[in-house]
Amino acid sequence: MADVNIAPSQDGPYMVSGPVTLSDVDGREIPHSDQMALCRCGHSNNKPFCDATHLTIDFDGTLKNEQHPSRIVSLYRW
Ligand code: FES
Repeated sequence: MADVNIAPSQDGPYMVSGPVTLSDVDGREIPHSDQMALCRCGHSNNKPFCDATHLTIDFDGTLKNEQHPSRIVSLYRW
């Protein structure tokens, strides 16, 4: 299996590396490099990529399951 890694950074974006395909809501592929930072704060002006806006908005990137260990990781299914 290809070596793909997705990890949240401290109060910042998801850091993604490896051979992944990134698509928009219409299924069109979004070009990107093998390493990219995906916005986690929701305020980037270049979504889905991070543009460092999180540094200006006092973004708290604490993972929910760190605050509430019993919380289900995700309810989203596809
Ligand atoms: S995480 Fe960097 S702009 Fe949103």
